[in-house]
Amino acid sequence: MINIKTGKRFEGKVAVITGAAQGMGRQVALDMAAEGGMVAAVDIEENGLSTLKKEIEDSGGECTTLICDVSVSSNVGRMIEGITALYRKIDILVNNAGFLTTGTIEETSDELIDKTIDINLKGVLYTIRAVTPVMKAGNYGRIVNVASITGKRGDNTTIFAYGAAKGAVISLTRSVARQLGPFGITCNAIAPHAIMTKMMSYWDEEKKRSISETIPVRRLGTVKDVSNLILFLSSDESSFINGETVNINGGYYMD
Ligand SMILES: NC(=O)c1ccc[n+]([C@@H]2O[C@H](COP(=O)([O-])OP(=O)(O)OC[C@H]3O[C@@H](n4cnc5c(N)ncnc54)[C@H](O)[C@@H]3O)[C@@H](O)[C@H]2O)c1
Repeated sequence: MINIKTGKRFEGKVAVITGAAQGMGRQVALDMAAEGGMVAAVDIEENGLSTLKKEIEDSGGECTTLICDVSVSSNVGRMIEGITALYRKIDILVNNAGFLTTGTIEETSDELIDKTIDINLKGVLYTIRAVTPVMKAGNYGRIVNVASITGKRGDNTTIFAYGAAKGAVISLTRSVARQLGPFGITCNAIAPHAIMTKMMSYWDEEKKRSISETIPVRRLGTVKDVSNLILFLSSDESSFINGETVNINGGYYMD
């Protein structure tokens, strides 16, 4: 619902955004704050968070920053407790923090499998578990998980644990949607492909050109493309969409 006094979609809403120091998470934080949301920006990168907070506050928005490694359960618990103590509620959770590397199956070490699963999958489980009682108490919630095209169709360059974790995020999104729907809480995911952020810096210019030729709209994705979708799924306008994973890839992959 849009606030008729201000015309802003997230007026009075508290939004927790993980992985907000750069890339997609940073754009979501900026856009959510511009639309009146009180943003709790979470990351392990202190500098990126400080720059984001300053940028939001300089434009008259509200932003709290929290250094938290989402792969550590106790840290996530404290992070959600801290935000709840400050705002007395949490309306929106965007699980965006992620970690990606490339490599073959044979060269994927135990440590790399653990790190990939811990950040991309367990981090999402921990944050949703921690936020559930808070959202239930408010009888309202919007949870948006950032999965990936690799979670649906696999990939041939990123390490295979990454797609496995993202596929699991798509599955847990459906379980959460079923279990929390009766409490006014929806849970959806997005499956991006080829969004130009630091994570994709391993693509050189030639790779970017060849990838964009495989995309029907003939371009790569931007953080703004992703933010537009996440804001819609975080808003009241999406209240009858639950358990979905929305592709965002310019038509490259459809299911
Ligand atoms: N860029 C793409 O094309 C693409 C495609 C599919 C999915 N994704 C997913 O989108 C999300 C955002 O990625 P991006 O492209 O903006 O990448 P990015 O690397 O620019 O941003 C990721 C952010 O997550 C933070 N982060 C990493 N580990 C963390 C941890 N343990 N705890 C807290 N924060 C942590 C990083 O510090 C960083 O700020 C990720 O989940 C990624 O897997 C990206």
